[in-house]
Amino acid sequence: MTDTHQPVRHAVVPSAGRGTRFLPATKAVPKEMLPVVDRPAIEYVVREATDAGIDDMLFVTRTGKEAIEAHFDADPGLEGDLEKAGKDELLSLATEYLGLARTHSVRQGHPLGLGHAVLQAKRHVGDAPFAVMLPDDLMHPDSVLLKQLIAVREAIGGSVVALLRVTPEQATAYASTSVTTIAVPEGVDVPEGNLMRIDKVVEKPPLDEVMSEYAVVGRYVFDPAIFDELEVIEPGAGGEYQLTDAFARLIDRPADQGGGLYGVVVEDRRFDTGDKLGYLEANVALALEHPKLGPALREFLHTELARTETAEA
Ligand code: G1P
Repeated sequence: MTDTHQPVRHAVVPSAGRGTRFLPATKAVPKEMLPVVDRPAIEYVVREATDAGIDDMLFVTRTGKEAIEAHFDADPGLEGDLEKAGKDELLSLATEYLGLARTHSVRQGHPLGLGHAVLQAKRHVGDAPFAVMLPDDLMHPDSVLLKQLIAVREAIGGSVVALLRVTPEQATAYASTSVTTIAVPEGVDVPEGNLMRIDKVVEKPPLDEVMSEYAVVGRYVFDPAIFDELEVIEPGAGGEYQLTDAFARLIDRPADQGGGLYGVVVEDRRFDTGDKLGYLEANVALALEHPKLGPALREFLHTELARTETAEA
């Protein structure tokens, strides 16, 4: 029996991927540690989680990803040196995020897929609802998406995933859904028309099997019943244990056993930082908004665009 009123306190961040889309940058540096403006991409994910009331982060990692843990650890040597040198601004940049959440990590061991990665969180999360945040999907810092997913879970139970509007061609790289719009419960801050019941979901379908413009992107809030399903699924698309195949099984699971699958349409800005162009877009968009860097970058971009246009003419 699941308690829909139990607050969502845990976020699981699968971080064991090799980052092959971003080679050679990711050969020796975890992709989660590549900087977006002035901080590693993973820090945005942790801030997004804590902004939504989550205070416990679990990174699912592998060998070579130790820098992620180090980033969220205190560093008395560095902090002491900055303090002695009176570099208060740098000290605050190096420490401001440290107390945001407790961070933990678990090793995936074998690269058997996203479903297998999330299953590694079972012992840590236990019988509680939890978020899964894929770090390649970087949400704009003003995003309310995760809060919306949590609000829907608290209002109607079950599990809730983020749905992005995509073209049919793009949908083949995601989980594609068939959906029915449902009424937004009172007190839940989701625009009417943006809450869906998911009737069917398929991981990376061929073009002729794409079901709608709504594809699942990397923010999820799961009932702990997902762990039962992750334990019974067989390898799916690409021969991997797919998270999608596990939450597809929640559609037919009775509500009093943690079943039910819903989607919230993403209206906030989202960047795919696992992709080279998406990464550059995130850097430019967020740097332009940076109070100190933005004005100078805007000027540089204008000059640079004019220069390349003249060169091309
Ligand atoms: C993963 C999931 C897929 C989801 C996507 C969102 O795929 O398996 O269902 O739509 O993330 O970014 P990946 O991008 O790891 O291939």
